[in-house]
Amino acid sequence: MSERLPIAVLVSGLGSNLQALLDTVHGREAEIVAVASSAEDATALDRAAARDVPTAVFARSLYADRDARDAALADWLAQRGARLVVLAGYMELLGEEFLERFPEGVINVHPSLLPAFPGLRAIEQALDYGVKVFGVTVHFVDAGMDTGPVILQRSVELPDAREPQEVLAALRPLEHAMLAQAVALIAAGALRADPGNPRRRVIDLESVGAHVA
Ligand code: GRF
Repeated sequence: MSERLPIAVLVSGLGSNLQALLDTVHGREAEIVAVASSAEDATALDRAAARDVPTAVFARSLYADRDARDAALADWLAQRGARLVVLAGYMELLGEEFLERFPEGVINVHPSLLPAFPGLRAIEQALDYGVKVFGVTVHFVDAGMDTGPVILQRSVELPDAREPQEVLAALRPLEHAMLAQAVALIAAGALRADPGNPRRRVIDLESVGAHVA
């Protein structure tokens, strides 16, 4: 098996997506070398500590501005050797300078079929709109709000859904599986840009095992 991809996971709260990564790709296709949180009391920090993954808190209040916070965060992640940064419920925007430190190296999981319903409260936005098909997107992060190239998307039909909790319960298992799959694909070098459309990412199935395809 090829070398494990060193990844960092950025969190702000519960950390169920972090847990999914700890339970699947960690120690296999990837090694989680750092977990950074924007909130001191994030349950995600306990999940990382339980698996002896180094953690740190980068609260906005501790820095002069966002750029200063981002620079300190990027320095720590680089020191830990992270080559991919996974946003897993990270509730802060990252500035361009941070993204330039990890080119094509930051991914996010979002609970809607982008470009529909970017930003906060995506499930509530979708319910308010009255959609009948919901979904999850894993995408590269660029300087916009959930605007980077799509890696994976999956949908679920919930024509009668009315409550955010109901939709969240249906989307959670998709998020967990898709985020792990995206990490495994990137670790295998199985994603490339489509020469005919630079926004489109092609999955090279020949270079991955069946469990990540
Ligand atoms: C997920 O629903 C994700 O789509 C969104 O934030 C939530 C994080 O959940 N970006 P968790 O902290 O991973 O449990």
